[in-house]
Amino acid sequence: MSATVDIRFRLNGVDTEVTVPAGMSTLEMLRERLDLTGTKYACGEGECGACTISVDGVTVNSCLMFAADCDGRELLTIEGLVASPVGEVLRASFARNGAVQCGFCTPGIMMQAQHVLRKHKGCERADLQRAIEGNLCRCTGYVKIIDSIAEACVTADTEQGA
Ligand code: FES
Ligand code: FES
Repeated sequence: MSATVDIRFRLNGVDTEVTVPAGMSTLEMLRERLDLTGTKYACGEGECGACTISVDGVTVNSCLMFAADCDGRELLTIEGLVASPVGEVLRASFARNGAVQCGFCTPGIMMQAQHVLRKHKGCERADLQRAIEGNLCRCTGYVKIIDSIAEACVTADTEQGA
């Protein structure tokens, strides 16, 4: 029988406790234990960014992080993001610009984009492109995605008076 660990953390602003196998990934925990299926499983090897979440304000590939290492941390997933003002700005911009086709990459890209928007490091297309270079999309060719993030970046800066 495999060892289990009890962990506690904040998940999308809510105190959460769960018992997980020691070797379970954060992605598996989110999808299979906590029913948060917005975070996607694709490569499982840290190559595609589909599983991107935020841990203590830093974006990580949740397929590469042990669930046990979430203990004491603050997690944000796409479900928490879309309920926030920044998430709403991103969602509206992606919809307006037609940046979603199959949508499989979209949660991971939005998680990466929110990190850029919250950092207020400017809205230059080249910088936005670099910010999502670890997130693969097989459908869109990225142009509409960058259009969306750039538009959301300007909107977020305007709304926050930056
Ligand atoms: Fe985690 Fe691809 S599923 S990086
Ligand atoms: Fe299909 Fe990006 S919209 S992978």
